[in-house]
Amino acid sequence: MPTHTASGDDDTDCKKVKCIALTLDDGPAAPETATLLTYLAQYKARATFFTTGQNVAAHPDLVRAAARAGNEIGNHSWNHPDLTKLTPEQIASQLNRTNTAIKAATGKEPTLFRPPYGAINTQVRAATRLSPVLWDVDTEDWKYRDAAKVAQTVISKAEPNDVVLMHDIHPTSVAAVPQILRTLTARGYHFVTVSHLRATL
Ligand code: NI
Repeated sequence: MPTHTASGDDDTDCKKVKCIALTLDDGPAAPETATLLTYLAQYKARATFFTTGQNVAAHPDLVRAAARAGNEIGNHSWNHPDLTKLTPEQIASQLNRTNTAIKAATGKEPTLFRPPYGAINTQVRAATRLSPVLWDVDTEDWKYRDAAKVAQTVISKAEPNDVVLMHDIHPTSVAAVPQILRTLTARGYHFVTVSHLRATL
């Protein structure tokens, strides 16, 4: 029998079915990320966590649990600066340090990064081999802190193959996830990682 990672078990073909990639930024946070993992597992859904290195160092167990469940771990810098305001050496340090922390927690180096604030330019792109990921739907969950509103935003705006931006450091955002999973699953959506979405489109 071939050995494979949990994420390799996902045979969802996003060319044939409707896919959506939930992305959770700025964590992991306790207990929010652990709660979110239980919701994802209930719906056999996967997500992508863009973690900061400082939070990975604080909660390596949560990052490991997320990865083991088939979720993807991406790099969101060490401590969330605007990368476009840093030198190339500082950008590389922010991303390399975080990659090292994620690899220490999960055994796997990330291949994706999300620049804090979505701030990116040619200098940031040139400083790393990681592939940048922005988003299609911005829930603005950090502003509203309202689970019903966050859920409604995703449910009303999401289209096939969209990347959705949320933050798993806010309890209200995590509380929105069951309704999102329940409603969009009923509409035929499959929740996949960003790398899975990109690989099967
Ligand atoms: Ni962020």
